[in-house]
Amino acid sequence: MAEVIVALDVDSADEALGLADRLPDLRWVKVGPMLFLRHGPAVIGELKNRGVSVFLDLKWHDIPSSVAGAVEAARELGVDLATVHASGGKEMLQAAVSARGAMRLAAVSVLTSHTPEGYAQATGRESVDLPKEVSRLAGLAVATGIGAIVASPWELATVRPVLPNGTWLVVPGIRPPGVELGDQHRTADPRAAAEAGATHLVVGRPITQSDKPEVVYQQICETVA
Ligand code: C5P
Repeated sequence: MAEVIVALDVDSADEALGLADRLPDLRWVKVGPMLFLRHGPAVIGELKNRGVSVFLDLKWHDIPSSVAGAVEAARELGVDLATVHASGGKEMLQAAVSARGAMRLAAVSVLTSHTPEGYAQATGRESVDLPKEVSRLAGLAVATGIGAIVASPWELATVRPVLPNGTWLVVPGIRPPGVELGDQHRTADPRAAAEAGATHLVVGRPITQSDKPEVVYQQICETVA
């Protein structure tokens, strides 16, 4: 069984809160830069008041003290889960862990929008085996005490065995059958991702851009229940 996290990648707080209010038995939402930069802490407070868990996805990758400061601020806002980049390295990850308190941190491995070729180009390598790369980054992150890994559906089988029991696998790139991929490359349908070991599915546009978001949300929840 996997939890469904709705990525509220919309422009306004009204739209985000209106959508949250339409989705039946909503448990988790994700706030990214689009919404956070416009409405910041206020929208997090509004969402928390509705009893939903908040995933703040700002994917920090900075010097250790700056990341620790950001983690502390997120924790003070009541955020439940926040992201750092695993490629920020051991010291940055340790600094984040030392500031997290009861908040859970997820380490982003390789963005789901990367193809193997695009990632190789970005990292100056001839070719990259992405499942191995994701497992390497996940191993680095969990060794520092990070409790969740963000990976695409395509790496789940390889990465799951390197994770300690209880580590969350947070998986974007979810597309119900027939829904457009958009800029995502490494995708799967909700059932396949849950069966492959995802504990949390991140779903944005298939819900936010649907005419009937509540129907799509409910169908996905039922599929992975
Ligand atoms: O609209 P869609 O379902 O593609 O949204 C996926 C969400 O997951 C976006 O908010 C995106 O920022 C986030 N995400 C991702 N890939 C990662 C980490 C986060 O797509 N590796």
